[in-house]
Amino acid sequence: MGKNERLLADEDDAFATAARVKYYNIVIDSGQGAEITDVDGNAYIDLLASASATNTGHSHPHVVQAIQDQAAKLIQYTPAYFANTNGAELAPRLTALAPISGPTELAWGNSGSDANDAIIKFARAYTGRQYIVSFTGAYHGSTYGSLSLSAVSLNMSRKIAPLLPGIVKVPFPDPWQRLAGESEDAFVDRMFKAFTLPFETYLPAEEVAAVVIEPIQGDGGIIKAPDRYLRQVVDFAHDHGILFAIDEVNQGMGRTGKWWSIQNFPGLEPDLMSVGKSLASGLPLSAVIGRQEIMESLGAPAHVFTTAGNPVTAAAAMATIDVIEQEHLLDQSRILGEKAKAFFEAEQQKYPFIGDVRMYGLDGGIDIVDPETNAPDPVATTKLIYRVFELGAIIISLRGNVLRFQPPLVITEEQLNKAFVILAQAFSELAAGQLKLPANADQIGW
Ligand SMILES: Cc1ncc(COP(=O)(O)O)c(C=O)c1O
Repeated sequence: MGKNERLLADEDDAFATAARVKYYNIVIDSGQGAEITDVDGNAYIDLLASASATNTGHSHPHVVQAIQDQAAKLIQYTPAYFANTNGAELAPRLTALAPISGPTELAWGNSGSDANDAIIKFARAYTGRQYIVSFTGAYHGSTYGSLSLSAVSLNMSRKIAPLLPGIVKVPFPDPWQRLAGESEDAFVDRMFKAFTLPFETYLPAEEVAAVVIEPIQGDGGIIKAPDRYLRQVVDFAHDHGILFAIDEVNQGMGRTGKWWSIQNFPGLEPDLMSVGKSLASGLPLSAVIGRQEIMESLGAPAHVFTTAGNPVTAAAAMATIDVIEQEHLLDQSRILGEKAKAFFEAEQQKYPFIGDVRMYGLDGGIDIVDPETNAPDPVATTKLIYRVFELGAIIISLRGNVLRFQPPLVITEEQLNKAFVILAQAFSELAAGQLKLPANADQIGW
C-alpha cells in the first residue's frame, strides 16, 4: 500500500462525506508554481489551481516570504478590535483596485461564502428591502446565506431546509437553455423575459434589495452571461432601486485576463462585490467591497470575525497583488488563454465529442457531449479526466460533463504544452474507444 492509500484510509473514518467532492485518491504534499506532488512522489501539472485559489501558483517565493516574515512578527490580533499594519495598508489598496468608481469601502471575511452572506446583509440594510434575486447554476458557497443563493447541486440544499427566506432564482442564460436554431438576439430576449417574469407576477420590484450574479459563472460551467443580457439586467435593477452585486470569488484576481470578470463587460460597475480564494493566494481571506454609502449602512458589530483580515492573511494578499502586478499575470492569463483556446478548438475539429469551448483568459469550460445526440456525456468526461490524471495532470469536471481548465496564471509555456500533449493523448484514446471508467467512477465528481 502506498502512502496515498494509507493516509486516505486513516482519514476516512474521521472525515465527513459532505466535506469533499471526490476525484482522485491522492494526498497532496507539496506544490511549486503550476506543479503539485503527492505523498508518494508523483508530480502533476495542476490545471485546477486549487479551485482558482492559487492564481499566483503554489508557494510563490514572494508570498511565502511575506507569510514567513509576518508569522514571525505577529500571527494574529483580531481586526474585530484593533487594526494591524498589513490590513490597514491592504484595505485602501484593494478598494482602489475594485471596479467601483467613487468612495468604496470593504469588510473582511474568512471565506468566499461569508463574503456572499455579507452581500445579503449590506444590501438588505441599505435598501430596507428583503428579497434577493440569484441565478440557477450559481455556486456562491456553503454557509446558509451563500448556499441559499446557490443552485447548482441538490446535495447543497437537501435535508437542511428551511434555507434563508426571501431568495428568488431566475435562469442563468447558459448555452443549455438555448433552443435549436435560436439566434443570439432571440435567446437574450427570451432569457431577459424569464428574468422579468417574477417581477411581473409575484415579486414587487420595490421590495427587492439586490440581484447577485457571477458575470462569468464558475462552477456552473465557466459561462459568460451574454453582454446585452447583463446590461439589461443592470438597467432593470437600477431603474427599480435594486443593487447590482457580483461574485468575483472564483473569477476575480486576474483569472479572466482582467482583475475582475465584470471588466469583460466594459462600462458595467457593481454596487457590491465579493472576493476571496486567490486574494491571499489561498490563505483564508475574503472581502465584501461596495459603495461607501452601502457599506456604511450597518453598525458594529454587525459584520466582525475574529480572524478575518488578520496580519498573516493580509501580508499574503499584499504579496499576491505585488506578484500579479510585477509578473504581469493579467497579460499572461490573456496570452496563454489564447493558446489554450486555439488548442481546444483544434481538438474540437478532430473530435465530435468536444462540444462548446469557452475560454476567457486561462479560464475554460469545455463541454464533452455524445456525438450522436449532442447531449452531455458525463461517462466520457469521467473517463477523460481520469486518464489525464493517470498521465500526470489534474483536471476536474463541472456539472458532470464540463472540463474545468483553470491552471495557475504562472504556468509556464513548457508546462502548458506538456498539458496539451496529455490532453491530446486522452482525447485520441477516448476516440479510439480505449478508455475505461475507473473502479471508483461512481464516487467521482459533483
Ligand atoms: C463563485 C464562488 N463564490 C463563492 C465561493 C465560496 O468560496 P469559499 O469556498 O471560499 O467559501 C466559491 C467557491 O468555489 C465560488 O466559486
